[in-house]
Amino acid sequence: MKKPLLVLCMLLPTLALANPHKEIIEARQGAFQTVEENTDAIGAALRGSDVDWAALAALSAQLVEQTLLLQTAFPEGSTEDSKARTSIWESPDKFKEQLTKLDASMNELNTAVLAQNQSGASAAIKEGLTTCKACHRSYRERR
Ligand code: HEC
Repeated sequence: MKKPLLVLCMLLPTLALANPHKEIIEARQGAFQTVEENTDAIGAALRGSDVDWAALAALSAQLVEQTLLLQTAFPEGSTEDSKARTSIWESPDKFKEQLTKLDASMNELNTAVLAQNQSGASAAIKEGLTTCKACHRSYRERR
């Protein structure tokens, strides 16, 4: 056997074992963590009386960024070491619809925060949280 071929034969099993979607899965899980932390923090701040709008603007801008990242973070079949259910790719349009809804709520939230509109921001958060639950029910594994 020629040397390069031998090396390839030795490498193939390790290549097959590696999770090809590892990076994107970790990125989207990180994005969801940030989404949860920031929506929690903003929700708590909005229930208070002395709202630090500048701090909220930074958090809501980050939310817009992270939800945008999520739009491209679900390559087909990326379920290994992940709670993503295969139903995502069985009804990709419906899944995408939920992501778009989340994105829209986060944009509304950001706009309301920039306008220092407390009731508008609370409404946008509430709307966003409804979408989290709906999407998790259909597309996230309960493990
Ligand atoms: C479009 C569907 C969808 C929406 C909307 C959605 N999620 Fe998720 N979420 C998922 C899926 C799928 C996973 C599993 C991702 C994985 O493990 O790769 C997940 C995972 C998570 C995780 C766990 C991340 C980790 O480290 O394992 C958290 C926290 C989370 N979501 C919070 C939220 C919050 C908060 C919202 C709403 C503000 C939200 N999600 C909206 C689908 C969604």
